[in-house]
Amino acid sequence: MAVKKIVVLASGGGSNLQSLIDAAENGAINARIAAVISDRRGAFALERAKSAGIPSYEHDRFDKARFAVRDDFDRAVADSIDAHAPDLIVLAGYLSILPRETVTRYRVINIHPSLLPKFGGMGFYGRKVHEAVIAAGETESGATVHYVDEGVDTGGIIVQERVPVMPGDTAETLAARVLETEHNLIVTAVKMLL
Ligand code: GRF
Repeated sequence: MAVKKIVVLASGGGSNLQSLIDAAENGAINARIAAVISDRRGAFALERAKSAGIPSYEHDRFDKARFAVRDDFDRAVADSIDAHAPDLIVLAGYLSILPRETVTRYRVINIHPSLLPKFGGMGFYGRKVHEAVIAAGETESGATVHYVDEGVDTGGIIVQERVPVMPGDTAETLAARVLETEHNLIVTAVKMLL
């Protein structure tokens, strides 16, 4: 079976990206990370891509000199994706919403640090998710990999894994526990789909 091409979009540290890079390198997934795209200047995910010899693109959404209007940014991201004709796009901690054309043209998945549909949607990202889980007194949380459609965190669920919320958890300790789970879950989901 031909090796599939994955393009990963990431805004931050890229530890989920690293998990995919490792899985591709050690043969756990029959895929190659064809490119990494970030919408944030200096995202560490870009360094991880460079270290692995993967083409990377920094399209800083807030760079007004380059992107006077949102459309310009969307086009730059779309062009970088198109250049690699991926079989799958993985959003791994990516903070921009993809335009309709991209989510309809490609198969796109996202990893979200809660048990969707709980604690998902506009405004639920990063530590805000974990703060809300703790404030709601939940005894468990987890991670979800889902398809990306035109909404925010509304696409079909592919796979989920639960983690306990411990007494005394802070957003940081819970985030760390969930993130550890994400690293396996993202690889499991990609394996299922390819
Ligand atoms: C993860 O918790 C992911 O679910 C969320 O952002 C975090 C990204 O972590 N959307 P990393 O950049 O993969 O280390």
